Amino acid sequence: MTASRRQFSAQALGSLVAYGLIETLWSRDLFAESVKPTIAAWLKDLIEISKDLKGRKLTDLEFQKKMEALYRTVDLKSLVELVKLDDIEKKVKLPDSGASSSGIDLKQIEGLPADIGFGRQIFGCKKGRSIVPHGHSNMCTGFIILKGKWEGKHYDRVETQKEHFIIKPTIDKAFEPGDLSTISDHKDNIHWFKAVSETAYIFNVHIIGYDPKIEGNSGRMYLDPDGEKLDGGLIRAPRISSEACHKKYG
Ligand SMILES: [Fe+2]
Repeated sequence: MTASRRQFSAQALGSLVAYGLIETLWSRDLFAESVKPTIAAWLKDLIEISKDLKGRKLTDLEFQKKMEALYRTVDLKSLVELVKLDDIEKKVKLPDSGASSSGIDLKQIEGLPADIGFGRQIFGCKKGRSIVPHGHSNMCTGFIILKGKWEGKHYDRVETQKEHFIIKPTIDKAFEPGDLSTISDHKDNIHWFKAVSETAYIFNVHIIGYDPKIEGNSGRMYLDPDGEKLDGGLIRAPRISSEACHKKYG
């Protein structure tokens, strides 16, 4: 019985492959859909790994891997509904320089603890405008594109000096809905997203102060990645003010 069933499955699968149906199913995300957790379960997992990062059960690099894996499982449509992107699009005017930032209230979700352990917001830009290049100290973040198209660049912050950073390009690619990236002090610390569609929105989760040994506050450190090219693909990127950064890249 089992053998014949297996045989049948193999044959059926063979036919699907032959007719190109497997590919069609995959491309329509039907297989993936069936294993996606509900958005509430997904949020609970996010709370869990955020707590593990803060509780030093995960290193920042381990956290980044887990967060990226978790982001890949999210039901994007449910996330968009959860954060009420429609309302934000209607209410929030996208700025002529830089990005809008909107908070997200998760109190309506049943069963979530009062302290969820991570900050979250939505950034929005209109075409040609950017979340300007910057890094953070003692902060991990995860970005996932909710809507629109972006060009995203990331750099490792190899050295931190008073007047400049030594940075190394790590990511330079097109980001579409569902695409994601994470940062920490040790990987892809500098991020920069430029909207290339009429409007574009990113969901962001951030965890501040995850390592008591790291000095400095977690606020944005602005820089100009268009700095002197050094050996080994490195760049000496001067620190600049928010104003100068927005003037050049916003
Ligand atoms: Fe940031």
